[in-house]
Amino acid sequence: MSSSHFRPVFSLVVALAIAAVGRSAEPDAGKLEFFEKKIRPLLVGHCNACHSADTKPAGGLRVDDRNGLLTGGNAGAAVVPGKPADSLLLKRVAKEAKRRMPTEGEHLSDEQIADLTTWIKDGAVWPAVKLPASFGKQKEKYEELRKDHWAWQPLQEPKAPAVKDAAWAKDDVDRFLLAKLEAQKLAPVADADKVTLIRRVTFDLTGLPPTPADVDAFVKDDSKDAFAKVVDRLLASPQFGERWGRHWLDVARYGESTGPSRNIPYPHAWKYRDYVIDSVNADVPYDRFIREQVAGDLLPSTNDEEANRQKIATGFLALGVKDVNQRFKVRFVMDNVDEQIDAVTRSVLGLTVSCARCHDHKFDPVPQADVNGLVAATDKVHFDPPERDVVHGPVGELAEVEVRVEVANHPGQDVAVERGRAPPAGRCTRPQRPAGLFASRRRAGVRRRGGTGPPSAAARRSPPSG
Ligand code: HEC
Ligand code: HEC
Repeated sequence: MSSSHFRPVFSLVVALAIAAVGRSAEPDAGKLEFFEKKIRPLLVGHCNACHSADTKPAGGLRVDDRNGLLTGGNAGAAVVPGKPADSLLLKRVAKEAKRRMPTEGEHLSDEQIADLTTWIKDGAVWPAVKLPASFGKQKEKYEELRKDHWAWQPLQEPKAPAVKDAAWAKDDVDRFLLAKLEAQKLAPVADADKVTLIRRVTFDLTGLPPTPADVDAFVKDDSKDAFAKVVDRLLASPQFGERWGRHWLDVARYGESTGPSRNIPYPHAWKYRDYVIDSVNADVPYDRFIREQVAGDLLPSTNDEEANRQKIATGFLALGVKDVNQRFKVRFVMDNVDEQIDAVTRSVLGLTVSCARCHDHKFDPVPQADVNGLVAATDKVHFDPPERDVVHGPVGELAEVEVRVEVANHPGQDVAVERGRAPPAGRCTRPQRPAGLFASRRRAGVRRRGGTGPPSAAARRSPPSG
């Protein structure tokens, strides 16, 4: 990969600028007509069978969009706009070519080769992707939906209701409960005895029963803060993080393999699991916890341990179902982007935002444009340099951007992308990579670091057996 890597904010600006230019400065009509009449049919008729998104592109080359031609296949750019002599495509269709394209079917006529040459000389124009007129516009009913849907309501601090039996309620939670009971003319049951109480709270906080010694100590403890002491002990125990971390691991679709078809293991997934448990035990604030998982590799850090911990956190993005049998590169990449957006939005927004991957959300006020914005914001996005302004994304209207994701952990490598499939298990699980499984982004800074610091506390811990 020789293309430069912009910083994301800058690249977003660049992309928007390209988008704007792309829309206003459509290539001239005559050239477009030439493309549609002569070039597109030629490519579709003679080349697409082996070089398109719907095939496993031969030689890594796609000819069904401009970016595919400019990026080229294994041998590099196939078309250099304005420079027929430098364009590999012309060399490969020429009579004297060693393995003349197409390898099957009729070869191109002199006239067709001349047309290709003219087209490249004239800048290899290709029509911009058309967005529907409704794209990006707010739907009217969305305003109504926003008023109804709980997820859009601002936070409120409700006042505790007044209750008749004021002496029974010890705090506001009690007052809410009691108010409902009183409304139904029900009286609260008696308080639990101490044995029942410690059993309940121990299960609640650790998922385990109390030991007989714990029960004895509590029953015998007549001090006023006896219960608070039990709760503090349980909160401080490692089992607290294991018990409550599990809930987050469910939300985070934690699993130790790719599923669903060919099931390649993520043998380092436990590092992310331990990150979650450790974070609960360390009482990491929720906003920080989420930020680390969504963007840990981009957060500043003061030492390698912190940097690694934050990288491991992005295992949240890297986990998840990956269809490693998917042969089509673009589909594979975009399905993974979609899966990540789905995981992030479901878990923290309580919304199935990814329904709007293909159309404005039918029930929730989520326009398709927002999903595309999120695709960009995942920062898995790599905006190509300005001259490559045509789309690679078949998903919705992902105009003007070429999206690439590196799955699992190979900073600096594009294995998943170039091959259109996940790397073999051995590759994504190199033991010398401390973080093991994390999201890596095509950013110079991240690449340079490449995950070579010493392992964090969580990473040093050996994987549990069984
Ligand atoms: C029947 C399948 C088939 C068809 C049709 C076909 N190709 Fe290819 N093409 C291949 C294969 C296989 C390779 C990879 C091996 C090679 O480079 O010879 C390839 C490689 C190429 C490469 C080199 C890519 C690189 O970076 O290594 C170019 C350029 C190319 N084809 C252009 C074309 C063009 C233009 C057409 C249509 C006029 C076309 N091909 C039609 C099978 C095909
Ligand atoms: C992979 C693309 C894709 C995804 C993802 C998708 N849909 Fe659709 N959906 C379509 C297409 C295509 C249509 C038919 C055209 C249209 O109505 O826009 C459609 C139609 C619908 C319709 C019926 C049309 C109407 O206007 O009543 C509903 C309802 C719907 N989708 C809901 C959903 C929900 C809910 C989700 C998320 C769980 C979802 N869709 C995710 C592609 C998709």
